[in-house]
Amino acid sequence: MSDRPLLNRRLEGFGSTIFAEMSALAVKTGAINLGQGFPDTDGPESVREAAVKALRDGRGNQYPPGPGIPELRTAVTEHQQRFYGLTFDPDTEVLVTAGATEAIAASMLALLEPGDEVIAFEPFYDSYAASIAMAGATRVPLTLRAPDFRPDLEALREAITPRTRLLLLNSPHNPTGMVLTREELTAVAALAVEHDLLVVTDEVYEHVVFEGEHIPLISLPGMRDRTVSISSSGKTFSFTGWKVGWVTASAPLVAAVRTAKQYLTYVSAGPFQYAVAEALRLPDAYFTGFREDLHTKRDLLADGLAEAGFDVFRPQGTYFITTDITALGEKDGVPFCLGLPERCGVVAVPTAVFYDHPDAGRSHVRFAFCKREDVLREAASRLRRPGY
Ligand SMILES: Cc1ncc(COP(=O)(O)O)c(C=O)c1O
Repeated sequence: MSDRPLLNRRLEGFGSTIFAEMSALAVKTGAINLGQGFPDTDGPESVREAAVKALRDGRGNQYPPGPGIPELRTAVTEHQQRFYGLTFDPDTEVLVTAGATEAIAASMLALLEPGDEVIAFEPFYDSYAASIAMAGATRVPLTLRAPDFRPDLEALREAITPRTRLLLLNSPHNPTGMVLTREELTAVAALAVEHDLLVVTDEVYEHVVFEGEHIPLISLPGMRDRTVSISSSGKTFSFTGWKVGWVTASAPLVAAVRTAKQYLTYVSAGPFQYAVAEALRLPDAYFTGFREDLHTKRDLLADGLAEAGFDVFRPQGTYFITTDITALGEKDGVPFCLGLPERCGVVAVPTAVFYDHPDAGRSHVRFAFCKREDVLREAASRLRRPGY
């Protein structure tokens, strides 16, 4: 074997994801896993039954159509109409993907040339950096800073160069819980129009907003033809393992993303697509109840963490709480989180790993609250016990 590294140099430095590492630690120590963002209760029974029925009826057991089954593409357009008053053509302006993750990767591979710059807010969801790298592009991070993690729009303006091709936005934002306001989105849209930029928006937490509201950037003037809007069923319906996501965008953008997507997975999860089509048609009460349930859980865990001595940045959306551990006499979230399962029986994630400038989040630790209330209570009580 030659000395040449086996891993392509674009992926140099991308080891296993922090979630895999921390979840493995949770299994090893039997700790409560508030690290990775997956619910510990499955989504609606009727949706699960719809998947079983599709499997039994032989719907989706063979390759579904490349862009996704028509039923799901139509249900996505109905959802966009119902919640945002947006109209899309199910045949040309919707693409079903293997979760939001594939939609993000396919968007980067389709829309970027080597050397292009992509501006994204850091801390960022970990697949962003890898997807930008796989496309051979360069990421340009804009740091969101505690305590409120609002974007610095002047810094955004300054970060735009002639090489900037795309903004990669995430709102509601993981891990900070920040939700972009209409004023902020309007400013972002104005910059995108002024500099002729594409924008890819990751909206997987669109239904998990406690303060403010979720406004799709694509609904703003000038954005309809330059935005790739991405969402997923995983978070909204608590079936993260199904990996059914989607893109809504103009026909030319969908055609571009589909070209990359078809050579990644071609298609995915046939029977689950039928079930998600039904899920998207659930009555408003489902979406309201889901949000209210998480709101209660947010407050439960936030109060528990505050009582345990953490500085809590109460999120406006998503199912994550970012905290600061300085008040506990700790400085660095990485050793803190590595030791937490042994010391307290709880797993959390150091948010420094989501930054290019980790100092901005060195003392920050993220907890997921998409768990049963008794689990959150037990976790809070373990964290209240001194031990760190
Ligand atoms: C911001 C963000 N985007 C995308 C994803 C992944 O979505 P999916 O499971 O649909 O690929 C996650 C999951 O945690 C996320 O937090």
